[in-house]
Amino acid sequence: MILAGRRVILGVAGGIAAYKAAEIAGTLVKQGVEVRVIMTRAAQEFITPLTLQTITSHEVASDMFTPRSGGVAHIEAARWGEAFLIAPATANIIGKMAAGIGDDLLSTIVLAFDRPVLVCPAMNVTMYKNPVVQRNIQALSALGYYFIEPGSGRLACGEEGPGRLAPTAEIVARLESILGGSGDLGGLKMLITAGPTREPLDSVRYISNRSSGKMGYAVAKAAAERGADVVLVSGPVALSPPDGVNVVFVETAQEMHLAVNRHFEWCDVVVKAAAVADYRVQAQPGKIKKGATPLTLTLEPNPDILRDLGERKGRRVIIGFAAETEQLETRAVEKARNKGADLIVANDVTRPGAGFDVDTNIAVFAYPDGRTVPLPLMTKSALAHRILDQVLDLREDGADNG
Ligand code: C5P
Repeated sequence: MILAGRRVILGVAGGIAAYKAAEIAGTLVKQGVEVRVIMTRAAQEFITPLTLQTITSHEVASDMFTPRSGGVAHIEAARWGEAFLIAPATANIIGKMAAGIGDDLLSTIVLAFDRPVLVCPAMNVTMYKNPVVQRNIQALSALGYYFIEPGSGRLACGEEGPGRLAPTAEIVARLESILGGSGDLGGLKMLITAGPTREPLDSVRYISNRSSGKMGYAVAKAAAERGADVVLVSGPVALSPPDGVNVVFVETAQEMHLAVNRHFEWCDVVVKAAAVADYRVQAQPGKIKKGATPLTLTLEPNPDILRDLGERKGRRVIIGFAAETEQLETRAVEKARNKGADLIVANDVTRPGAGFDVDTNIAVFAYPDGRTVPLPLMTKSALAHRILDQVLDLREDGADNG
């Protein structure tokens, strides 16, 4: 029980999902967490302080100005908490946080709090997608606030899309990795690849694929947060490198191969999330001229980096990815065997919520012994943590099949 004995402030803002704070508080209390709840005034319209007080066995606070003995309410709470969980977080509290406003107890404690804050947004889909809200989330993320993206589905307002409070299990898992779990990969050297590769046709054009790099970046971020030493070999992406990660940028599959080889000796774990182009073009110098006749390009195979590493794996843990459109599980198991990987994280890229350029994924873990474990839809960040949990299990098993 990683969280047992830890002190968490649970901030509850006033959205319909506020009622779910009871389940979150209850789950944390069951794990031995000491929880103190701070509610906004609006949150009390959705769930009573008495409910949360009964669950947590602590008085619930919401007012700055209730006369009390002892110290100043917000400073005392801020000193007491080891982590601040805001669930649900409305667009309003996120906006106040981004602007540095403290006009009630909850927002004032956030200002006085200098330890990890985990924000779990829940709101109407249009509000969530509003560029102002997105800008606030990005600004806060850049300052080190942690966010769990909301789930997608039918919302209380009747609309469909992202806006649902993340499931309690995901919130608790994130809290574990931020608080207790952080450090469980301490001392591990991890080599992670991400993004597409670009294969030039001539000096101005290239072929590539739709990989956004989000999955590999999520693994790199989560691994660094959990204490691993991370080198991220990245193809061209539109993402900011995660804090505390050494990034090596490459373009082509051959460049990725070279960069990966340079770091392979050094590492204990490889996670190959990059969508490496299987073929490269016999590139022409200069720019190919426009003409009226069909143009034939000759493609030659690129090295299979993962298979190459698999042949030399030694005691390393090697994890690959597989984007499939059919026979997901069979192919993934075959891939694990053929490439010498300990685990293949496979996803059917035709399913909504899985694959390229989305923030969620629906994956199946496939092992060389033929086992497959399907996982539910989750954010790429949550999946990254599941993959890292597998790294720990595989290392315990002594992943030596090479
Ligand atoms: O064979 P397939 O491309 O489906 O396998 C995907 C896995 O293999 C991914 O982990 C990807 O990073 C890796 N791969 C590679 N080199 C290639 C092609 C894929 O390392 N040339």
